[in-house]
Amino acid sequence: MQPIFLIGYMGCGKSTLGRNVSRIAGIDFIDLDSYIEGRYHASVRELFAARGEEGFRDIERRMLHEAAEFENVIIACGGGTPCFHDNMDYMNSRGVTVFMNTSLPKLHSRLMRGRYKRPLIADKNEEELREFIVKALEQRMPFYSKAKMVFDGDLLENECEVSETALRFISLLNLPLNENSK
Ligand code: S3P
Repeated sequence: MQPIFLIGYMGCGKSTLGRNVSRIAGIDFIDLDSYIEGRYHASVRELFAARGEEGFRDIERRMLHEAAEFENVIIACGGGTPCFHDNMDYMNSRGVTVFMNTSLPKLHSRLMRGRYKRPLIADKNEEELREFIVKALEQRMPFYSKAKMVFDGDLLENECEVSETALRFISLLNLPLNENSK
């Protein structure tokens, strides 16, 4: 199976969906940020602080190429991954890219809760964060819209929604069901 790349803005649900699709379909899951952190023994925040965004984007590109070599894998990219270097074209040439299209209110509420580990938004208040998301989406949409498929990322708020959304994804992509989850 070609790798599946989940792309979309921070908080769109890439990691939650990827982890659950992996569990239900019995394929491997890589969260690109965690993969980078494991390989570099440093958090994304620390890498941004030590090397600047440009340094982080170089690492991200290298690690994307490494992760994309694995078989039977679903990869949750970072929100910025498709928007730097030739990453989007590379992912489209290697496998199936899926843009998780999640509404602004959902992105905003998820990111208010989870902003501290994300260096680009860690110090923003509610209003600043909303404006930041709107602007970033405008800039990033030309990259995200190159994805081969679009998938709605709104319904991932509780266990039940997550399972239903993962099953919907599995059926859309015609993935097999894991023996244990049949
Ligand atoms: C970023 C998104 C983050 C992480 C880094 C930069 C971005 O990943 O790679 O903080 O530029 O949108 P998530 O989308 O998994 O939060």
